Amino acid sequence: MRTLQPWKSLKLSLKARFNLENSCKMKTLHFENKDKPFLWEKNMSCLKMWKRLLLFLLAILMMTGCAFGTKAADKSQSKSDTPKSNVTATKETKGASQKPAEGKLMTVKLNSGYDMPVLGLGTWTQNNTTTAESVYFALKNGYRLIDTARYYGNEKGVGEGVKRAIADGIVKRGDVFVTSKIMPGNYNNAAAAIDASLKDLQLDYLDLMQIHQPGSNDKAVYQAMEQGVKDGKLRSIGISNYYTKQQVDEVLSYAKIMPAVIQNENHIYYQNTALQNYVKQYGIVIECWYPFGGRGNTRDSFENKTIVEIAKAHEKTPAQIILRWQIQAGYVTIPGSANPQHIAENIAVFDFALSADEMQKIAGLNQQRRYENW
Ligand SMILES: NC(=O)c1ccc[n+]([C@@H]2O[C@H](COP(=O)([O-])OP(=O)(O)OC[C@H]3O[C@@H](n4cnc5c(N)ncnc54)[C@H](OP(=O)(O)O)[C@@H]3O)[C@@H](O)[C@H]2O)c1
Repeated sequence: MRTLQPWKSLKLSLKARFNLENSCKMKTLHFENKDKPFLWEKNMSCLKMWKRLLLFLLAILMMTGCAFGTKAADKSQSKSDTPKSNVTATKETKGASQKPAEGKLMTVKLNSGYDMPVLGLGTWTQNNTTTAESVYFALKNGYRLIDTARYYGNEKGVGEGVKRAIADGIVKRGDVFVTSKIMPGNYNNAAAAIDASLKDLQLDYLDLMQIHQPGSNDKAVYQAMEQGVKDGKLRSIGISNYYTKQQVDEVLSYAKIMPAVIQNENHIYYQNTALQNYVKQYGIVIECWYPFGGRGNTRDSFENKTIVEIAKAHEKTPAQIILRWQIQAGYVTIPGSANPQHIAENIAVFDFALSADEMQKIAGLNQQRRYENW
């Protein structure tokens, strides 16, 4: 009997730990109370013990296997599946020292096959020095899309900001989606304009290059961009300030590479849903400039009663409600800011969602009213 003591205590502790059935407990007690138990009974008890131990270990192995299996399945799914809505959470940067401020930055799959973040930093009216600071700060705070244009005169600043963020291990080049635009003054030599942008940005390729606005020779400009894609200088190409079906159709009539993005003025008072619905069939995404109406006009949007009410309900700012509405409505948005507090605030829109009713209310604010006429 004495030799059985360690097994018995192990058996009891196992039972206590894994909540064995009462019937087993009864058996054990009975076994313990016997003065001279038969040898086979002892052996049987030991065997049962081992059996249970093995079953327990087997169960643990299976559970661990299942967990790994599920993870592997998840991974392979995210790699191979094309997202239904073509909007997905962005992959986290390996080794990045900073993550998005809140929630996960989302991306949209472009018709070029590349993923574009649905929210980025606009840099219009910022000089090179300010731009370098705001781009660096934005990347540090989770932004992965930066919008500039040859016309803004700040491509060097964007390049500086990106370069510093890469040097500091915040991002790798492949994590950042950089957009620029060919300005009308360069339409006669678009190929040279592409090279000039790349040089100022200190980049080997641009993620997206757009024609800044329609011009007399935008066909040649578009073709130069197509050549840029063939040469590996541009990944995706697009247009900007094309507001009607007719304007888009004209580009499509000569385009050999489909435009991936149309960047237009778009905000609560100008929601060109007709264009968005029309270009959906081509997988073209609409990107909104002036999400807040532009500098000097932001109070119009931020003090709108409906926006303020929804903001209160979600404990968010009016700016965040507007950006969230644009993302949920299927747009890419690029709020412009040189203010660190605003830059951080503007990306904190991935931790809440607007209801269908709220989306409808904001859709109802549309007046087809633009602030600019280009
Ligand atoms: N393709 C085109 O023709 C075209 C035309 C215009 C613009 N764009 C692009 O679109 C981007 C966005 O447009 P935008 O910058 O002109 O106008 P916007 O984003 O509608 O508004 C910018 C204004 O909003 C303020 N702001 C930003 N975030 C804020 C917040 N959370 N709370 C309060 N105020 C906030 C900014 O001030 P602070 O700096 O103080 O934050 C600035 O005064 C441009 O930067 C540019 O990249 C393209």
